[in-house]
Amino acid sequence: MKEIKIETKLFVFDSENDLPKNISKLMNDAKKARLNAHAPYSNFAVGAAILLDNDEVIIGNNQENASYPSGLCAERTAIYYTGAKYPDAKILKIAIVAGSLNSETSQPIPPCGACRQAIAEYEVNQNTPIEIYFMGTSGKVLKSDSLENLLPLIFDKSQL
Ligand code: THU
Repeated sequence: MKEIKIETKLFVFDSENDLPKNISKLMNDAKKARLNAHAPYSNFAVGAAILLDNDEVIIGNNQENASYPSGLCAERTAIYYTGAKYPDAKILKIAIVAGSLNSETSQPIPPCGACRQAIAEYEVNQNTPIEIYFMGTSGKVLKSDSLENLLPLIFDKSQL
């Protein structure tokens, strides 16, 4: 038996004020999207904004349901709409803002595992990395250069 180490890499911005202007704009789109989240059951609202290589921005937010498992996360709402509307566009960047509706969320909230898998499908298919920025409702912003850095040992079509 031998041990294998897998490295990953993230960048930390101390505040959203440190973000480059274009990312700050995308983060604001995610914040605006978050305001329309339908999250009456968890009171945890999430907004996502996706920048495409055709300059379009697609937004999404979490959509909960009285039948809880029927709800969908913000990231998948946004990425599936992107796939539906612009199947040939490349996804360049995703900005995500997430947090409780009852209190401040000052730590960065990463996309859940299911959303990482969904984003992976697009990154693998387009064969170029997707930058992912995520934050709480305040505080630090984390950046990943690619989905792969958030999901080591990715499962994709090459394994089918
Ligand atoms: N949620 C997202 O929208 N994205 C994530 O990556 C994590 C969780 C939503 C799902 C649910 O509506 C609420 O946050 C609490 O889990």
